[in-house]
Amino acid sequence: MIESVPEQRTLERKVSTMGFLKIHELCKVYGRGENQVAALDHVSLDIKRGEFTAIIGTSGSGKSTLLHAIGCVDVPTSGKIYLNGQDVYAQSSDKLAIFRRRQVGLIYQFHNLIPTLNVVENITLPILMDKRKVNQKRLSELLHLLGLEERKNHLPNQLSGGQQQRVAIGRALMNAPQVMLADEPTGSLDSKNGHEIIKLLKESNRIYGQTLLLVTHDESIALQADRIIGISDGRVVRDEKVVRS
Ligand SMILES: Nc1ncnc2c1ncn2[C@@H]1O[C@H](COP(=O)(O)OP(=O)(O)OP(=O)(O)O)[C@@H](O)[C@H]1O
Ligand SMILES: [Mg+2]
Repeated sequence: MIESVPEQRTLERKVSTMGFLKIHELCKVYGRGENQVAALDHVSLDIKRGEFTAIIGTSGSGKSTLLHAIGCVDVPTSGKIYLNGQDVYAQSSDKLAIFRRRQVGLIYQFHNLIPTLNVVENITLPILMDKRKVNQKRLSELLHLLGLEERKNHLPNQLSGGQQQRVAIGRALMNAPQVMLADEPTGSLDSKNGHEIIKLLKESNRIYGQTLLLVTHDESIALQADRIIGISDGRVVRDEKVVRS
């Protein structure tokens, strides 16, 4: 009887880390002493494979911090993130860097393109950094999906804001990451270009079955998601499925 207790616990622990993307009691504290900010305060979430989740909340509520933690660009103070049952931050730093390049795609509001590289070079950069061969078929498919076939040799400063954002999406998609993280990807675009970008992200979510987490201030964009998560003061305060008639 006594021995069955730890066994039971092990089983429970296994079950609780299963699922696709599981965020468990995630905390991120910035600063020290009086300047301390709890940007994430015990956030727990279960995200299904292929789900499109919109994350909303006021400025400073912790949305970017959450995306950066999932995207492995900012280590959480405590808590766990599991992808396919794997404790993401338990990996060595080398493995974590590879994981970040291959499994997650991050898109920011300001696209961080390399100004001296053309469209194709920017899109394929993560593959080349990973010392892998570019899948030309996927590249052509992506350029078509992104409507950038005619612009593939252009430098970023020869492109419109919407086109630059599409290059950034292409770069994030090139590796076929399991999780796509988009932090206000339409924030610096006009409504037409913004609409196009959302359409594209939804397409890639549908075509490639990618899990999409998208931060937005725009309620009409959030309503296009499968699920809306609201964050306030680093906590999840809303979690709803979007019901479509
Ligand atoms: N590097 C940092 N150092 C100290 N505090 C930080 C840092 N990054 C974020 N914060 C603080 O953490 C909190 C959450 O920031 P975060 O960037 O996640 O907010 P956000 O919801 O993305 O806001 P916005 O909508 O304005 O982008 C804020 O109070 C912010 O000031
Ligand atoms: Mg932010």
